[in-house]
Amino acid sequence: MRLEDNIYFAGENTVASVCNQFGTPLYLYDSDKIVEQIKTFKQAFNWPKLKVKFAMKSLSNISILKLMKAHGVELDAVSLYEAETGFFAGYKPSQIMYTPSGVKFDELEEGVLKGYQINVDNLSTLEKFGEKYGNTVPCCLRINPHIKAGGNHKIQTGHKDSKFGISLLQIDQILEITKKYDIVINGLHMHTGSEIYEIDPYIEGAKVLFKLAQNFAHLDFIDFGSGFKVAYKDGDKVTDLKKLGDNLVAEFSAFCDSYGKELEMWFEPGKFLVSESGVLLVKANVVKQTPYSTFVGVDSGLNHLIRPMMYDSYHEIVNVSNPTGKVQNYNVVGYICETDTFAWDRPLNEVREGDILAIKNAGAYGFSMSSNYNSRPRPAEALIVNGVPQLIRNRETIQDILKNQIDIFQEEEIKI
Ligand code: LLP
Repeated sequence: MRLEDNIYFAGENTVASVCNQFGTPLYLYDSDKIVEQIKTFKQAFNWPKLKVKFAMKSLSNISILKLMKAHGVELDAVSLYEAETGFFAGYKPSQIMYTPSGVKFDELEEGVLKGYQINVDNLSTLEKFGEKYGNTVPCCLRINPHIKAGGNHKIQTGHKDSKFGISLLQIDQILEITKKYDIVINGLHMHTGSEIYEIDPYIEGAKVLFKLAQNFAHLDFIDFGSGFKVAYKDGDKVTDLKKLGDNLVAEFSAFCDSYGKELEMWFEPGKFLVSESGVLLVKANVVKQTPYSTFVGVDSGLNHLIRPMMYDSYHEIVNVSNPTGKVQNYNVVGYICETDTFAWDRPLNEVREGDILAIKNAGAYGFSMSSNYNSRPRPAEALIVNGVPQLIRNRETIQDILKNQIDIFQEEEIKI
């Protein structure tokens, strides 16, 4: 989205015309921005065997996945359904890293049958994996390196009390199980959380993996996960990717020398690739003045973008319809019967009923975390390709809300 002569444009069209064409609420993504982020990412990590696996949990629309694929990006999936979506988008199973957490062993078996790269995150599953497959199917180990990183405790995943990964302190048990069944460990993985702008946690975590790696003779890759922080507002700290890349590549290179093999370097960025590419466009339904403050009630809510309510995340908001209006403070709230506040006491250009507001940085974990709460349909999604917005998901309707419900009473009179 860009402002030219006080008019907001998305590609070649005005944002207002895109909203007229597809309606609101609308998730609108810019493919140019996604491609730019992919390039920046690849340039930062100058390693010949670099693999970027898009964390599709952040945005799983098949048109987005196809765009990723066209730019040499593979996939990180956390459920069989995500992996299947990736397959549907044209990925080979071998390009899909499957990292479930706390699932029944059946789901791992299904993943093996499909041919995904399996990532095991607990000892009980490792034991079952060994029993069933011995040395016939390789697997990766998700290690918990006991590193507390990232701002918000709700999105930290690599500390000692986290449910994710196998503790680095359990290496003896890992080795016992892998030896007992002759399991081929072809990769080591970590993911310590999201929104980590410091470089140190990545390097510290990498060192943990390098040390453990010397126990495994058949590694093909090390997966350093993700968590790269992007700017949600002016002045936000972001991960210095170039500096991280230079440091990590140097450490990795030294490790590979000592390991005796040039391994693949994997990452699983979600937010970095898509967050800034997306906006959620909503319409101001009501402007409500109370004796204390002014609320703007929009045609969306926590059912469409839950991040502000779940993590207290800051999302910049702009009034697309009135960019020169007098700035006043507003509480921007949703239409859900909960306190679903997008922004509290936020300076915005004067908002009038009917104005379009753009909620920025909505590309990652926006649509993918949406729901039908209050029986409200999910928004449509559109992608700007070569300057032109194209619909990539229809807006849901009442039929979508009702389609899986079973009316057991039908025409009968209810006698209970
Ligand atoms: N790899 C694994 C194993 C993950 O669990 C995640 C995110 C990623 C990669 C991608 O991380 P990213 O690059 O997006 O930071 N829903 C939250 C964040 C939790 C994400 C969970 N896992 C949010 O809206 O901020």
